[in-house]
Amino acid sequence: MLIGVPVETVPGETRVAVTPETAKKLVAQGHVVRVQSGAGVAASVTDAAYQAAGAEITDAAGAFGADIVLKVRSPDDRECALMKPATVLIGMLNPFDAAGLQRLATAGLTAFALEAAPRTTRAQSMDVLSSQANIAGYKAVMIAADKYQRFFPMLMTAAGTVKAARVVILGVGVAGLQAIATAKRLGAVIEASDVRPSVKEQIESLGGKFIEVSYDTDEEKEAAVGVGGYAKPMPPSWLARQQVEVAKRVALADVVISTALIPGRAAPTLITEDMVKAMKPGSVIVDIAAGKGPDGVGGNCPLSEADKTVVKHGVTIVGETNLAALVAADASALYARNVLDFLKLIVAKEGTLKIDLEDDIVAACRMAQDGQVTRK
Ligand code: NAI
Repeated sequence: MLIGVPVETVPGETRVAVTPETAKKLVAQGHVVRVQSGAGVAASVTDAAYQAAGAEITDAAGAFGADIVLKVRSPDDRECALMKPATVLIGMLNPFDAAGLQRLATAGLTAFALEAAPRTTRAQSMDVLSSQANIAGYKAVMIAADKYQRFFPMLMTAAGTVKAARVVILGVGVAGLQAIATAKRLGAVIEASDVRPSVKEQIESLGGKFIEVSYDTDEEKEAAVGVGGYAKPMPPSWLARQQVEVAKRVALADVVISTALIPGRAAPTLITEDMVKAMKPGSVIVDIAAGKGPDGVGGNCPLSEADKTVVKHGVTIVGETNLAALVAADASALYARNVLDFLKLIVAKEGTLKIDLEDDIVAACRMAQDGQVTRK
């Protein structure tokens, strides 16, 4: 089949959906891969590297004019207009963006959003949320270490002893766990909070301390189990107790990395303005949930601003919304492998399209087909 790889046009998007490694595999499977000139540049991949892998270099019309278009972000109106009806589109298409999905349906595309893959063992190799959140957790710590005006590790020098940084991680999913691991490697002392008590062991195995909050009612215990691996909104009674415990840790923290999300809902407010006021001057918050707070304002901290770094009450608050794009080469390498594995589900051995809706991953990821939004 003809596979197209366009340049990403969302501002700040540096990733690319196919790398020379995956292009080579697609070509070996008998496909023709057409990459728009410059598609890999921001991820340190040259046109020549794609050509060496057997891909052809083309323009936007050539890339969007393929049978299967592989993207990172959802196409805009102009890009949709370049695709013919029934084109298969695979990308991070944002399953919660109803207007965006309608645009794909109206364009007649057969669209698959990889974020919608179930959190099952079989889907793990195509789990883009995991592959990209892992990178975001790492980069959040790198940025925090850069903004923080002190060391992370405890150091004993001839000029005196330097204390280890205290790092608090809020939300211990994929990003939070990687943030713990990364901060630990740098020598920080780590405490972490999550609504799901099942993460306690994972935190401790990485050398962090779980911030204990009791589950006092059946409603609290039931909500804490979550659904499909994801968190559910917690009852206000539990959130109030969590806030007391988190506030004590945040007041002593040098760095806070917040990653708490609930799919399809606003990110919970975990670091209030009063908590920021109580932090030490020079402390750093990296709010991975920035831009996802109530009504799209703030994130886990209401003072964070999407894609900006601000200083409020002496605390530096980083609101970068696309941390994975700041590690463009590896983020693309992992994402491209996720895409390649998903393709195996919808392309038969003979190289023809085979969309099997009995396959739970295919069915869950399908967002639009035959002019209709088909999101489950
Ligand atoms: P996410 O990005 O949706 O949320 C991040 C974290 O925020 C979650 O751990 C969530 O529990 C937490 N959170 C939500 N509200 C909170 C609050 N009020 N206070 C503190 N924390 C709060 O989650 P992510 O990273 O996508 O992963 C969630 C879980 O999914 C993983 O920990 C894992 O158990 C499961 N998973 C399973 C996979 C598989 O089996 N294939 C692959 C990846 C993840």
